Amino acid sequence: MFDTLGALFLSLLLKKIGICNENSQLNIAKILLKHLLQINMNSIQIIDQKITDITKLENGEYSYRIKLNEESVGIGLYKCMSLVNHSCYNVTKSLFNGSELCLVSNCSFQNGDEITYNYGPHFKQAKKDERQQYLSDLYYFQCQCKACDQNWC
Ligand SMILES: *[C@@H]1O[C@H](CO)[C@@H](O)[C@H](O)[C@H]1NC(C)=O
Ligand SMILES: *[C@@H]1O[C@H](CO)[C@@H](O)[C@H](O)[C@H]1NC(C)=O
Ligand SMILES: *[C@@H]1O[C@H](CO)[C@@H](O)[C@H](O)[C@H]1NC(C)=O
Ligand SMILES: *[C@@H]1O[C@H](CO)[C@@H](O)[C@H](O)[C@H]1NC(C)=O
Ligand SMILES: [Zn+2]
Repeated sequence: MFDTLGALFLSLLLKKIGICNENSQLNIAKILLKHLLQINMNSIQIIDQKITDITKLENGEYSYRIKLNEESVGIGLYKCMSLVNHSCYNVTKSLFNGSELCLVSNCSFQNGDEITYNYGPHFKQAKKDERQQYLSDLYYFQCQCKACDQNWC
C-alpha cells in the first residue's frame, strides 16, 4: 500500500520535472513499484566490519579475524544473496568487508545442496508459530525448513 503510493508519488515528481509524461507515467510508476518491493524484500543491512588475517589452514579450511563495530552503516542490494532462501537455523553467516558481502559457513556442502541464510527468527530464540508469523508478515512465505518441518522447537 505505502509502496504503491510511494511509486505514484515518485512518478508524479518525475512528470513534474519533465522526465516522463502523462502517457508514460503509469508505466514508470509500475517499474518504481517493482523496485521498491524488491528493495523491501531483498535489502541487507551493511554492518561496519572488516575481515583480516585470512589464513589457509592445513585441512584446507580458512581462518580469519573480523574487526567489528556492529554498527549498521546502510542497506545494500546483493543479486546473488537475493537468491538465498531462509532457514530457521544457522547454516551461513554474512560478513562484510566494506560494502562487499561474503557468506561463510562451517558446514560442508555436497553438489546440489541448498545453501540457506537466517533472515532473523532463529529456532533457539523464537517458537515455530512466532517464526512462521514473522516470516509470513514480512516476507510472505511459509517456512518449510528442517527446524519447522521437524518441530525442533
Ligand atoms: C528457494 O525456495 C524456492 C521455494 O521453495 C525454490 O523454488 C527455490 O529454488 C529456492 N532457491 C534456491 C536458490 O535454492
Ligand atoms: C577487504 O577489502 C580490502 C580493500 O578494502 C581488500 O584489500 C581485502 O582483500 C578485502 N578482503 C577480503 C577478504 O575480501
Ligand atoms: C562456526 O563455528 C564457530 C565455533 O563453534 C562459531 O563461533 C561460528 O559462529 C560458526 N559459524 C557459523 C556460520 O555457523
Ligand atoms: C545465528 O543467526 C542469528 C540470527 O541471524 C544470529 O543472531 C546468531 O548470532 C547466529 N549464530 C551463529 C552461531 O552464527
Ligand atoms: Zn523454519
